[in-house]
Order: sequence, then structure tokens, then C-alpha cells
Amino acid sequence: MNVATMVDPTEAVVTPSPEVVEGLDHWRSLPIKQQPPWPDPSAAEAVAEELVRVPPLVFAGEVDKLREQLADVAAGKSFVLQGGDCAETFAGATADNIRNRVKTILQMAVVLTYGASMPVVKMGRMAGQFAKPRSSNDETRDGVTLPAYRGDMVNGFDFTEEARTPDPSRMLDGYHTAASTLNLIRGFTQGGFADLRMVHSWNRGFASNPANRRYEGLAKEIDRAVRFMEAAGADFDELKRVDFFASHEGLLMEYERAMTRIDSRTGLPYDTSGHFIWIGERTRDIDGAHVDFFSRVQNPIGVKLGPSTSVDDMVKLIDVLDPDRVPGRLTFITRMGAGAIRDALPPLLEAVKDHESTPVWISDPMHGNGMTTQTGFKTRRFDDVVEEVKGFFEAHRQVGTHPGGIHVELTGDDVTECLGGVQQIDELGLETRYESLCDPRLNHQQSLELAFLVAEELGASLN
Ligand code: PEP
Ligand code: CO
Repeated sequence: MNVATMVDPTEAVVTPSPEVVEGLDHWRSLPIKQQPPWPDPSAAEAVAEELVRVPPLVFAGEVDKLREQLADVAAGKSFVLQGGDCAETFAGATADNIRNRVKTILQMAVVLTYGASMPVVKMGRMAGQFAKPRSSNDETRDGVTLPAYRGDMVNGFDFTEEARTPDPSRMLDGYHTAASTLNLIRGFTQGGFADLRMVHSWNRGFASNPANRRYEGLAKEIDRAVRFMEAAGADFDELKRVDFFASHEGLLMEYERAMTRIDSRTGLPYDTSGHFIWIGERTRDIDGAHVDFFSRVQNPIGVKLGPSTSVDDMVKLIDVLDPDRVPGRLTFITRMGAGAIRDALPPLLEAVKDHESTPVWISDPMHGNGMTTQTGFKTRRFDDVVEEVKGFFEAHRQVGTHPGGIHVELTGDDVTECLGGVQQIDELGLETRYESLCDPRLNHQQSLELAFLVAEELGASLN
């Protein structure tokens, strides 16, 4: 497949080496997991050829900036907040939805920044989180078996043969939906809406609850501090623009490959589908297609690590994905489960110290804590989420490494998908407003509650 150049008009064009270009298709000869069985592979190829020609969604300079910010996180100077839907949907890419998620992330970030006096790198599981790994290829309902839903970029959620048949033209819809989502995010975060002086307005529009009342108190303190600093001559116009990065799981290989461009400044490839791409727990095989492909792009790369991860698995991932030990290049997102984190994480943290590596460590307290209720709802207990985060901080304190961030499935809406929290959502309550097509998300209140708890942990680990 060809690879287009992402031309930076201010610089001379550096031609990539033939090995770099050829290497981008090496994954095709390797074992590959979780790819959709397209009914007509030539149709998928035609879509991929079209995607090679579309403009990039993100730019190399932005990706480099994120890598530098993540290098600060690895050094313990800042903290990452990564959040958003388990599976974004095309229908859900509305202005209200996007705004509520951005506001929730900004609110959580402010709680963390203020609580721990630390800069927070803000990343959405947004503008590209459209492809999902599945534990089974099929789903059976009332004796009818159809292909499993693999995310809007692959097939539809409706339980009909037509919707569930993988359709490659959905990759193009995914690109366009990511573009419009990112456009609005850029509008919000570059146009003044994310300005710290707007700290109160992010709380507006959400139903009153104990967590956002607590937030309102904190916003008042921030307001007072900002006014004091302004009066003392500080220039807060600097705070008008906020960096907000797009991230998603790099799963659908035809899409990720087609969105990869050569940076004209360096002749190196960047996956321009998002700033930060992570490899999931199910596709991180060291000899597999995903690890090979993402080892060849310049983006900061995340890898999910579940409770069965061995030191050997992790060390091999470091050597393949970050052979040059570039600060900020590699992030491990641990998702061990509340019961396993205290045993499973410390040996990995010890091992990186011996391996001259300083990855960013992020806690995903969601994916190791799934359960299904008797009434069939996929859910998580808020208490388990909190317990895993606490175990994550404890493990880092014990080993002397930096807890670098949290990765959460959340929405700005008042859904009822996770059990517990101050609202004490119970099994019956799940039926009220369960909207996720995939994993259960923290609602707006639970997200803020979690941010306050993490701010306390982070503050404690800094003291
Ligand atoms: C996810 O992040 O939605 C996911 C599927 O995670 P994991 O790869 O950790 O299971
Ligand atoms: Co999920």
C-alpha cells in the first residue's frame, strides 16, 4: 500500500527510506487477531486506498508535543487523565454529548490539578474509539446467532443480519465522525471554553448532586485565586487555550495503516488517526501484527497489561516498542482488577527499574473489574474501581515509581451503568438509564467522585 506524505508547508520535504515505507506493511505477514471478516476483502482494500488520500486527523507536531508532555509524566512531574466512552458511536457524536464529555474531563482535570498541584495531561478516549475487540466472534439471542458487534467502524449494533455484517465503508464514516468530533473538541479547547476562568461554567447543565456541589466549592476557591493572581498582574490569557489530545485503541489494522502518513520534516511515519494509540490486552502478542505495526510509528503508544502479564512479556514489549528508551514513547495501562493489583503490579514495576526503562504508568481501574448481574447487565462496582486505584498508588509508593495517571470509561451523562457511588446505584437502578453499547461507564457524578479520590491519593503520594 502507498503511504502519503503529511506536508508541513514551512519545511523542506525529507524522503523516507524504502525500509521505513516497506516496514509499514510487514504486519500483513504476521499473525493477526480481532480483525473483522469483511465479506468482500477487495471492498475493504478500496476503502483503505481512499483513506490513504484523506487529510490527516492530527499532525506530527501535536503528536510530538504529547510525547514531550508524557515524558514529564514519566518523570513524575505531571499526571494523565484519559477518559471517554468504551465504544463511541456515530449516532452519539452530537454536540451535546461531546461537550458533556469534554466538560467532565476538564472538571476532573481541575480537581486533580488543584488537589495535587500538578499539571494534568488531558486525553479523550474520543474521536476514534470506534472499533472493539470481542471475546467471542458471535452473539446468540433466542437461538439466533449473528456476528458480534465490533464497534461502529465495523458493523451496526442492531441484532439483524444486515446490521451485523461487517461493512468496510464504515471505516470512512469513522474517519468523518472522528474529524467532526475533533473539530468540536478543538473549538472548545482552543476557543476559550477550557479557560480556567470558565471553571464554574463546566458545572452548568449537570443535575445537582453531592459531587458537583463539592466541585462548585472548589471552583469558588480557584476563582478567588485566579482573581487574586490577575490583580497581582498575572497574565491569564495564556490559559485560554488548553491541549486536549485524542486517543483510541489501535485495533482495526486497515484503518490505522491507511491513516499513517510520512512526516515531511523527518521522513518518519505517524499514525494520524489520533495522537495517542494504545494496543489492547487481547492484541498485544509480541509476534503479532499490532505490536509490529505500532513499533514503526512515532506516536506515543500505550499497551494494556492485564493480571496475567509476566515480567518477560513486559520486558519484550519495552524492547520492541521502545528500543531507544525515548521518554514519553511508551505507556503501560494496567487493568489488573481490584483483587489482583497489589500482587500483580509491584513485580512489573521492579522489573522496569532493572531494565533502564521509564514508561508512563496509567491505571485503568475499569477493565479488570467487570461483572454481570443476575438480570444480565454488564456492570462494575464503583468501590472496586476505587479499590484498584488505591492499589495502584500503593504499589507505586512501595516500589518508588511514579503513578502516572488514570484511564476511565466515563460519560458526561447521568447514565446508570456502574453500581454504587454516592448515588448508590443498585442492580434495579441499572435499568433506569443503561445506554452503553459495550462496557459500563462512570456517569458524571461518579467521574467527579473518582477525581476527588484520586486527587487525595495523588496528593498523599507526593507528600
Ligand atoms: C477497552 O479499553 O475498552 C478494552 C477493551 O480494554 P482491554 O484491552 O484492557 O480489555
Ligand atoms: Co471497555
